[in-house]
Amino acid sequence: MTAFATTSSIVIPCAKGIPPTLKEELVALGFPVLAETVASVATEGTLADSMRLNLYLRTGNRVLFLVGEFPAANPDDLYRNLSQIAWETWIPEDGTLCVTSAVANPTIRDTRFANVKCKDAVVDRIKSHCGRRPDSGPERTGVVLFLHWRGDDCRIYLDTSGEPLSRRGYRKIPCKAPLQETIAAAVLLTTGWEGNGHFINPMCGSGTLAIEAALIGLDKAPGLLRSEFGFMHLKGFPEGSWRQLRQEAKRRAQKALSGRIIATDIDPKAVAAAKKNAATAGVEHLLEFAVCDYAETLVPEGGGVILLNPEYGERLGKREFLVEVYKGIGDFFKQKGSGYRGYVFTGNLELAKKVGLRPTRRIPFFNSKIECRLLEYELYEGSRKPAKNVQPAEDESL
Ligand SMILES: C[S@@+](CC[C@H](N)C(=O)[O-])C[C@H]1O[C@@H](n2cnc3c(N)ncnc32)[C@H](O)[C@@H]1O
Repeated sequence: MTAFATTSSIVIPCAKGIPPTLKEELVALGFPVLAETVASVATEGTLADSMRLNLYLRTGNRVLFLVGEFPAANPDDLYRNLSQIAWETWIPEDGTLCVTSAVANPTIRDTRFANVKCKDAVVDRIKSHCGRRPDSGPERTGVVLFLHWRGDDCRIYLDTSGEPLSRRGYRKIPCKAPLQETIAAAVLLTTGWEGNGHFINPMCGSGTLAIEAALIGLDKAPGLLRSEFGFMHLKGFPEGSWRQLRQEAKRRAQKALSGRIIATDIDPKAVAAAKKNAATAGVEHLLEFAVCDYAETLVPEGGGVILLNPEYGERLGKREFLVEVYKGIGDFFKQKGSGYRGYVFTGNLELAKKVGLRPTRRIPFFNSKIECRLLEYELYEGSRKPAKNVQPAEDESL
């Protein structure tokens, strides 16, 4: 049996708030959900399965394949246990190795020390079996190992993603306060966006939401945008199967969308960046861009999703000024959003109340360390009159 056919636990870390969406993605791909924490979901499978997960998952950050678990009270235990794993079956002696970790053990003050101890055990083992030790360094351009060490409980994983999956590769120009690609995808999946209707994205910034909306609408696997993954550097990487997986994903992707995607921003530099990023992602031809105030954004008849990610006031912008912006979003929804589902994604819950409409759902997310909400406003169907369920909600708890 090759290394790629061995079954093990697979853990997929993600941002807090995302596990419900990630679980749905896993189930849709035919994987069982075996465990869940606030910021990860566990399943099982082979390294070949990990390739599929890396290709298709939109909301997970990394795909970690468990290689070993053991108790370790101190660095010597760690070294001894790691030396007993047959690393020579996974890692080429002429390859390169990078170790990353999450460590909370009383004998470790600097996680870099745990990383070095881990790296030493692995390369020493390979040297003793193959006569040569792999190079090592901080770049995730070869084999990547992830060490999870809490108290005495130690787990070592192959990080089959290498670079995190949030780095899709299309965002060459990030602009101000961009959303992480995986969070943008989770937000969109939470709105129920599947390419049905139109997607309207005022305040588009670097275009992350509009680009991810196009990828979801096309059913285009995000991994098709990347040419590098950690699993490619492992011994026995089945290049032919990977090529076949990619071809299947390309066949599955639609060429066109049924609705329109309209992305606007008041800052011409943001729109220029969003256009470039969309071109890199191969979806520029599906997006309609304009430089304008959010309130002037074209909202065509037909319904769909309107999603705004305004500044929060913590990192950018002035609060008093933003109060007017958030109030204006409520007016924009009332005047132009009939027949749509309106959404505001924000990390400022006080400002969110200024929208002045009653949200039908308030879904918690975390953007870096900032607690955010995706607020949903069901707008009135069928006419351009203000939504019936729309009532002032300034003092409501979000
Ligand atoms: C938090 S950023 C959006 C980030 C975006 N989601 C991304 O991933 O890059 C907010 C954006 O709103 C834009 N903006 C601020 N005031 C605006 C207004 N009145 N009309 C339109 N856009 C505005 C800013 O230029 C900025 O690009």
